[in-house]
Order: sequence, then structure tokens, then C-alpha cells
Amino acid sequence: MNILAIDTSCDESCAALLDVTQWRLLGDVVHSHVDAMKQYGGVVPEIASREHLKGLPLAIDELLTQTRKTWKDIDWVAVTNRPGLVGALLVGVSFAKGLAFALQKPFSAFSHVEAHLFSALLAGTQGQPVPAFPWIALVVSGGHTELFRVKNALDYEWLGGTLDDAAGEAFDKVGKLLGLDYPAGPVIDRRVRTEGNEAQRKAFRFPRARTEAFHFSYSGLKTAVSLQVAKMGAISDADRLALASSAQEAILDPLVDKIKAAQTQFGISQVVVTGGVACNSRLRARLPDAYFPSPRHCSDNAAMVALLAGLYHQTGKLVASPWEITVSPFA
Ligand code: KG4
Ligand code: ZN
Repeated sequence: MNILAIDTSCDESCAALLDVTQWRLLGDVVHSHVDAMKQYGGVVPEIASREHLKGLPLAIDELLTQTRKTWKDIDWVAVTNRPGLVGALLVGVSFAKGLAFALQKPFSAFSHVEAHLFSALLAGTQGQPVPAFPWIALVVSGGHTELFRVKNALDYEWLGGTLDDAAGEAFDKVGKLLGLDYPAGPVIDRRVRTEGNEAQRKAFRFPRARTEAFHFSYSGLKTAVSLQVAKMGAISDADRLALASSAQEAILDPLVDKIKAAQTQFGISQVVVTGGVACNSRLRARLPDAYFPSPRHCSDNAAMVALLAGLYHQTGKLVASPWEITVSPFA
């Protein structure tokens, strides 16, 4: 049985094909809109929707070519319908419904965050080892910063999440204040990794929000960096590096601290970190025992949506969604 999955929750048009019977990922295509967004310094929702209209059919065409499959080989259509940009999600959900109707196959809608959460199991579809349950798992990206206690496949409990900005959003907004290109997360990561040092990481003491339990907050950091930049007036390139290094530590500290607190509280040693920010090399270095999916599987993709549908199928829980199902900005 082959599941075709679609994800259009943000600014990447993604399509993937999973052979559930063989538990093998056949293909995985991501068309990024990053070039269309660069001039705006962030994602413009209306432009993302329009880019999906062009990018999604191309991504699916490419997927079928790459996997040498035809429409007839698709048995089920899986699609992300929440959370995300509603206009962007609507393109994917409408496409999935149209395709399912035309092929006379069922379709099912899934949560993008739940798909990120189980993306750690994608390695298993490529013959590689996967982390054993239970996990403390962090989904950390441009849109989400959510901590979970995962007991088993599809069996988990939400521990907490961001009260305002996501960690990736903090990276991108700090980067914008420093005059870096969007998305700034990878730019900051690379610059700090190649040129940064301990002194620069400690150059500015930016705030770490004292949030309750397993929650996070990053809006204060953005304000602190903005005030610091305004106070300094013109910033040199060395200042920019020191500001970026210190801000990166202020973003990562709460992530590392809350993961460790959850490990202690629940007596769980296995940590899984995924989402775009999980590509960050400093975060990887600070959590040497954690499992990080490959960078391709950490960032937005549809393979994780296909895998989630596959897990529902394996556990006898895969049901077709009704035609009336719609999209939501919320999880
Ligand atoms: O998961 P993702 O591709 O899309 C969302 O669902 O948001 O994550 C994108 C986010 C962006 O905010 C980007 O700046 C951040 O992940 N990101 C990074 C790195 N690579 C991507 N942040 C820090 N370090 C990185 N290496
Ligand atoms: Zn995502």
C-alpha cells in the first residue's frame, strides 16, 4: 500500500510517497519558497499560498517521475490540515481532496506537529536504526516549540510549549535586527560555529524567560536584542557576531534546561529533537546523547506526514477524513 503525502503548512511545497507494506520511503520532494520570501525578510502568507499553487503540482510531478510511479500506484492520500498558515494549508487540503476524488481513494488529514514529533522514525524507512521509546521529545521550528513525553508510537502527552514566539522565529527576528538574510537561523548557526567563541557567547547577558513548568517564551529576547542594537547605534561585524552568539545561547539555554528537567521528572533518558531548529549545530553539540533526525527530516517535509499516516495504518487507526474537513491555524 502506497501513501502519497502532501504538506503546505508554511513556505515549502512538499510531497512524499511511502510504501507502508515494505515500510520504505520511496520519494520525498521539497520545493522551498525561500527565494520569493527573502526580499520581505520573512514569510508573507498570501505569497506562500500563491507559491503553493505553482509549487505543489510541480513537487508531485517530480515525485512521480523520481519514484517511477503513476496515479494508479497511490492507495491513500495524506495531507497536513493544521496548524499553519490557513491559506497555505487550504491549497494542500484542496489538492488532496481533488486528487482523492479523482482517484476514488480515501484521504486523511493530519497535524503537522504530530508529524514532526514522529519524524525520528523516518530513518527506519531507510533501513537505519531509530530511537527506542520512551522519549522526551522537543519539536522546535519556525512555528513551534513544543515539549512532549512520548510513551510509544502515537501515544504521547504534551508537556508544554511556547507562550509567544517559537525558537526559530526568535532566531529569524534576531537575525533581521542584525541585518541578516531570512531565514537567519542557519546563517547565525554557521557564523557562530565558524567564527564564534566562549567570550562572544557571554558578551551580552540576554534574558531567559522564567516560564512555568515546561513552557517557553521568546518575545522578551527579541525586545532585549532590539534595545541593545538601538543603544549601540552602528554595529560592527564583530559586534554582530557577539550579539548573534549571545542571542543563540539565550535561545538554546531554555530548550536544553527544560529537556533535562523533563528527563529527570519522568525518568526518561532518550531525548529526540526535531523541527528546523534541530539542524542547529550548537544545539546538537549541547545535547550529545540526544537523537536528531537528519537535517532534511528535521525541516519541513511530507515524508513525516506519510510516516504518520503509516503509523496510524500500522496501529489500525487510519480512517478516511470526511470531505467537509477544513484547515486550522491551531494544533
Ligand atoms: O521546521 P521548519 O523547516 O519550518 C517550520 O515548521 O517552521 O523550521 C524553519 C525554522 C526557521 O525559523 C529557521 O531559521 C530555523 O528553523 N532553522 C535554524 C537552523 N536551520 C533552520 N535555526 C537555527 N539553526 C539552524 N541551523
Ligand atoms: Zn514544521
